[in-house]
Amino acid sequence: MSRLAERYGPWAVVTGASAGIGAEFARRIAEWGVNVVLIARRRNRLEELASTIEDMYRVEARVAPVDLGSRDVVEALQPVLGDIEVGLLVNCAGYGSSGPFLDMDPSVQESMLNVNCRASLLLTHEIVQGMRERGRGGVIFVSSVNGFCASRGMAHYNATKAYDLVFAEGLAEELRPYGVDVQALCPGGTLTEFQRVAGLDTRNFGPFARLIFATPTSVVATSLRTLGHRVTVIPGFLNKLMVLTMKLLPRRVSTWIFGSLMARFATEH
Ligand SMILES: NC(=O)c1ccc[n+]([C@@H]2O[C@H](COP(=O)([O-])OP(=O)(O)OC[C@H]3O[C@@H](n4cnc5c(N)ncnc54)[C@H](OP(=O)(O)O)[C@@H]3O)[C@@H](O)[C@H]2O)c1
Repeated sequence: MSRLAERYGPWAVVTGASAGIGAEFARRIAEWGVNVVLIARRRNRLEELASTIEDMYRVEARVAPVDLGSRDVVEALQPVLGDIEVGLLVNCAGYGSSGPFLDMDPSVQESMLNVNCRASLLLTHEIVQGMRERGRGGVIFVSSVNGFCASRGMAHYNATKAYDLVFAEGLAEELRPYGVDVQALCPGGTLTEFQRVAGLDTRNFGPFARLIFATPTSVVATSLRTLGHRVTVIPGFLNKLMVLTMKLLPRRVSTWIFGSLMARFATEH
């Protein structure tokens, strides 16, 4: 039995598994011999990944095409979660949007709050009860370097990521005595579908893009390697340096700098 399966148990739940960082989490966790439940909206993507995972890693993969922005998230997932022992939960589903907050559709922003924050809160409350009883488990919240700093143009997205970060750090303290490892994973720019959905364009960084943007592979490798050893995980030297700089500067200055960076990133630039 692998380290992950032994330490956490036979099943993992990964939200946002149809693309990007979540899909990579699902592959890497399955590679360690842990069965996976794949959650996102796009059924075809989930089924394709489940079939690849079952063929390659000889584990079971269940799919749950569910909109995590909906009211009845926990009820909708009961059929796939009811009969399994979940030892690892990866709260990865999420999206961003860029532009002036008052020009945004409030219903899209409300849905973002539901997916980025409310769904993680409800799934964690539901699933981690069993981990606490068994005295073992792991929970990863995919926050962002954006969670450390406010910025114009991504005011609400950054607030949702700050929620994930602070929630995870508090829970880590609460659950440590019960043998449950909690991690706040804070990637910087990572090449996924995120940029297209958020209205950001990596080409605005020209040749520097390759230096600035990570791959889901490296982000997930850092996360799984450090789970149980570190709570707040910022993959990449440049991202660590940026967060440290933001912490040292007066908040108003860091907000201005981060906003300028985000403005450079916006599609209309
Ligand atoms: N990429 C970056 O630069 C970056 C940096 C820092 C943090 N992050 C965080 O990393 C996480 C994963 O993002 P990513 O970069 O992998 O982006 P991505 O490639 O766009 O993947 C986002 C995932 O979230 C799922 N999702 C979105 N809305 C959903 C909904 N209403 N219900 C269920 N699932 C939903 C998507 O699936 P469906 O569309 O099929 O529903 C997809 O699987 C996010 O929380 C993001 O905030 C990303």
